[in-house]
Amino acid sequence: MESAKQLSGTLAVAVFTAALGSLQYGYSLGVINAPQKVIEKNYARSLGVWTEESAVFSQNSTEEELPEVGQHPTVVMYWSLSVAIFSIGGVLSSFLVGFVGDLKGRVKGMLMVNVLAVAAGLLMGLCRMWKPHIMVISGRAVMGFYCGLTSGLVPMYIGEIAPKAYRGALGTLHQLAIVVGILISQVIGLDFVLGNDDMWPLLLGLSGAPAVLQSILLPFCPESPRYLFIILGEEEEARISLCRLKGQYDATADLEEMRREKEEADKEPRVSLLSLIRSTVYRQQLFVALMMHLSQQFSGINGIFYFSTAIFTQAGISQPVYATIGVGVINTIFTMVSVALVDKAGRRSLTLVGLGGMCCCAIIMTVGLAFQSQFWWMSYVSMSAIFLFVAFFEIGPGPIPWFIVAELFSQGPRPAAIALAGCCNWTSNFIVGMTFSYIQAWLGCYVFIVFAVLLLGFTVFTYLRVPETKGKTFEEIAAIFQKGRKELAASPKDISEMQQLKTATDA
Ligand code: GLC
Repeated sequence: MESAKQLSGTLAVAVFTAALGSLQYGYSLGVINAPQKVIEKNYARSLGVWTEESAVFSQNSTEEELPEVGQHPTVVMYWSLSVAIFSIGGVLSSFLVGFVGDLKGRVKGMLMVNVLAVAAGLLMGLCRMWKPHIMVISGRAVMGFYCGLTSGLVPMYIGEIAPKAYRGALGTLHQLAIVVGILISQVIGLDFVLGNDDMWPLLLGLSGAPAVLQSILLPFCPESPRYLFIILGEEEEARISLCRLKGQYDATADLEEMRREKEEADKEPRVSLLSLIRSTVYRQQLFVALMMHLSQQFSGINGIFYFSTAIFTQAGISQPVYATIGVGVINTIFTMVSVALVDKAGRRSLTLVGLGGMCCCAIIMTVGLAFQSQFWWMSYVSMSAIFLFVAFFEIGPGPIPWFIVAELFSQGPRPAAIALAGCCNWTSNFIVGMTFSYIQAWLGCYVFIVFAVLLLGFTVFTYLRVPETKGKTFEEIAAIFQKGRKELAASPKDISEMQQLKTATDA
């Protein structure tokens, strides 16, 4: 079926360009952590709760004393809002991914939403011109809104243009760009780079920069052939796009596969968010997709990313900021390992190994934290367990949920499915971000036991319900679920549902 296996230059440019959106997402996720104290100080100043005495206190105080300065209730409130509003923006906009992607196509969709990223970057970069706290919160809200869209549009586009044999590796590049973005923000967020009193607006404002580069490159990227053929019915355009992406080759077989998918899609009405939720036809795929996103977030990974410095301090590490950058480096290295493995080992096995490994690490981490006062070397046990936890995450549970949704659904329901999965991801990310410190305050060093239990449940789920999609066409993947449905469900119900859906379209 797959006539051309080579990766062309145009394909590389297209994937690189799309992944700039993911880089921006990662940068925005990570950028807010390192400069927290500096930003709080600036908020306090502009809110008028910063006094000369506290300024003197701050200059002479140690790292441990500094948080006191930011702990004015109004500053805490504005700071928490600056962090949380990003996820709220993402939750809201992730619903619109399908609409934006189908409106003018994937490429134009990505181009349009870049306006948001540039506006957000300017709001934050120029925050000193007015009230910094208001400017930053507005910028973070707009940036979150942008990232909710881009975290769906990028995997959708890459999933649709990638040759079958490289779909996993290219799909994982979305996550690779995210983790590189996080790492860049951690490094340039250090106080001697940009995370200081003079430069922090630039640090935040730079989060809009990849959008400028992406906007320059997007006009050179071919539109998704699947969008052109299956949604718009433009076969010739799709052939041209395929040849640009794969080099000159005989595209007949690929077009034939799309034609069959189009025929299937034409039999069904346009799948909206609501009809996807209600439909029993796609129930199994949807359940798997949502559970994979839940397992990504409720694995507790962002407990590490958002609070690593505090966790390393608790584990008795003397230079927590550098240990946090160590996490970013491990994160990037193991995502690269996943890029290399995912099309060979497969999605299912890597997810299983990843979730199972994370579960063991969460237990070891807890043991390390619990016994660190008895044995000095236990802090090294916890630190190693944190590094390994992140490594196992990036092997499978990190990158795979992002692109597997595009694989699990055919063209008709794909945009709606990506939107729902994205919304599930952003909402659970928000829940973990908001509740982690409370759970930590409640359970102390046993906080990761909660995640160990959840991880065990997700591992069992993956073993029982997640199929292998490696090397399969979208048609073959759909067939796995159709087969499962025929075996499981009362098929007359499905048939009557399909008929109802058909009547609705015909009407
Ligand atoms: C995934 C998650 C994101 C997390 C990141 C860490 O992209 O969606 O929430 O911060 O991995 O690498």
